Amino acid sequence: MSKSDIQTTPPVLTIDGPSGSGKGTVSRLLANELGWHYLDSGALYRITALAAQAAEIPFDYAETVADYALTLDIEFTSDEQGREQILVNGEDIASQVRLETTGELASQIAALPAVREALFQVQRKFAEQPGLVADGRDMGTIIFPDARCKIFLDASASERADRRYKQLKEKGVSVSLARLREEIEARDARDRGREIAPLVPADDALVLDSTAMGIDEVVDRIRQRLRSESLI
Ligand code: DC
Repeated sequence: MSKSDIQTTPPVLTIDGPSGSGKGTVSRLLANELGWHYLDSGALYRITALAAQAAEIPFDYAETVADYALTLDIEFTSDEQGREQILVNGEDIASQVRLETTGELASQIAALPAVREALFQVQRKFAEQPGLVADGRDMGTIIFPDARCKIFLDASASERADRRYKQLKEKGVSVSLARLREEIEARDARDRGREIAPLVPADDALVLDSTAMGIDEVVDRIRQRLRSESLI
């Protein structure tokens, strides 16, 4: 990388990990604090799965799903109360995007190479000045292998199921904890075991196990890493 590349390439912080590891919360907090852009790559897979389903394109038609994904006009924004909005071709589908069932569909569609290929450039375009926090499964390994700071955030499956259970309960959604844990484990197995872009830490990632750590501690550890890389 030449000196001018270093000056013009936006800094990227990648945060990968399984669902419920806290990476979404941590990524949003840091992106806000740093004033950097935020890429929620899982949302792109979720949106693609919902859109394909709504258009009645079977997931077996991977190329058609991939081509369709590239026609979607997607905007991440918020309403006047600060609530998340995800506009797809002008329609807010945020509440559907965040459903557990959509996470499951996204995990299925994410195993299709054609879909991953189509979303590659879409994700790369998020890297803009003054910087990007990229949250997902393969941010540090495939999408931004040259990122200056890579984190892999993990937590035990039972802790992640507990966290999700509490979140859903707060929203008034009643679910069984045992069932939630089974679903999390099944999704993990698919995301970690798939042939293409499996969920694994990049060789140069800092691996943090958040099972017994609060969000503040995790954010602190990442800030330290950003400092040691002279990114802040
Ligand atoms: O982070 P999430 O729960 O929103 O992700 C939903 C699914 O999308 C997840 O089970 C696997 C897939 N995914 C992926 O394969 N690669 C990414 N970079 C992000 C998500």
